[in-house]
Amino acid sequence: MSREDLLAVMPQDSVEEKQLLDGIDFARLPRHVAVIMDGNGRWAKKRMMPRIEGHRAGIASVRETVETSARLGLKVLTLYAFSVENWKRPELEISGLMLLLKHYLRSELDTMLKNDIRFGVIGRPEALPADVQDELMRATERTRHSQGLLFQLALNYGGRTELADGVRRLAADVQANGLDPATIDEATLARYLYTAGQPDPDLLIRTSGELRVSNFLLWQIAYSEIWVTDVLWPDFRRRHLLQAVVDYQRRERRYGGIVAS
Ligand code: IPE
Ligand code: IPE
Ligand code: MG
Repeated sequence: MSREDLLAVMPQDSVEEKQLLDGIDFARLPRHVAVIMDGNGRWAKKRMMPRIEGHRAGIASVRETVETSARLGLKVLTLYAFSVENWKRPELEISGLMLLLKHYLRSELDTMLKNDIRFGVIGRPEALPADVQDELMRATERTRHSQGLLFQLALNYGGRTELADGVRRLAADVQANGLDPATIDEATLARYLYTAGQPDPDLLIRTSGELRVSNFLLWQIAYSEIWVTDVLWPDFRRRHLLQAVVDYQRRERRYGGIVAS
């Protein structure tokens, strides 16, 4: 999509967004953007509201991020929605999150189809409540022929769990299917991860200012550019994503080498 097309289809609600769009080089977009959506609880606390209200408000940010990513022409958007560690939270918060997720998937399916978005999940969704799993399967199934953005939610996801799951399947293939251990290299291991076949994230965004990766995509972010904002997830808007892309394009990615001067 050219910048002109993009400007035509995106509702322009600020001069700032237009300027940011003007600054984006569409030939050098990140292929995969991954986001650690954080700060919902703090957003609610600031307003003296229960934490779940922060999660509810965060859904608008999810919508805007997904829509903007699709229209920018990104290949993959991965949103970290529930970690394997998040089961430590109060039961009421967890069940509230699951309910919001179910409603979100139901209400968004048509929009995903309309925007040619393919939906997916990474993690261990089999441990989620059955009704949530049903919605996840429905969204995945119904959007499987979409050709545009792959939008995936990391649910009951842990980076170390992903590596352990992958290595277990790899070991089984060595034992039962004659895979020769001597042939195992980085590309082999990558094929056993939840993200098999996908480009690694070029850009990793974390909201709410925390400077940690919280067990997210440990293998895949080896050379991702990291962009952290103090903005809390429910306040994250299109302009923040555009700003992250603009900043990403100013970075010099060296991958351990040197840049010819
Ligand atoms: C992120 O917001 C959402 C999830 C982890 C599900 P938090 O709920 O972690 O919000 P804070 O970090 O407590 O503000
Ligand atoms: C990371 O946020 C997990 C998700 C965004 C789903 P957390 O709020 O759970 O991470 P920590 O506890 O601050 O590391
Ligand atoms: Mg948090």
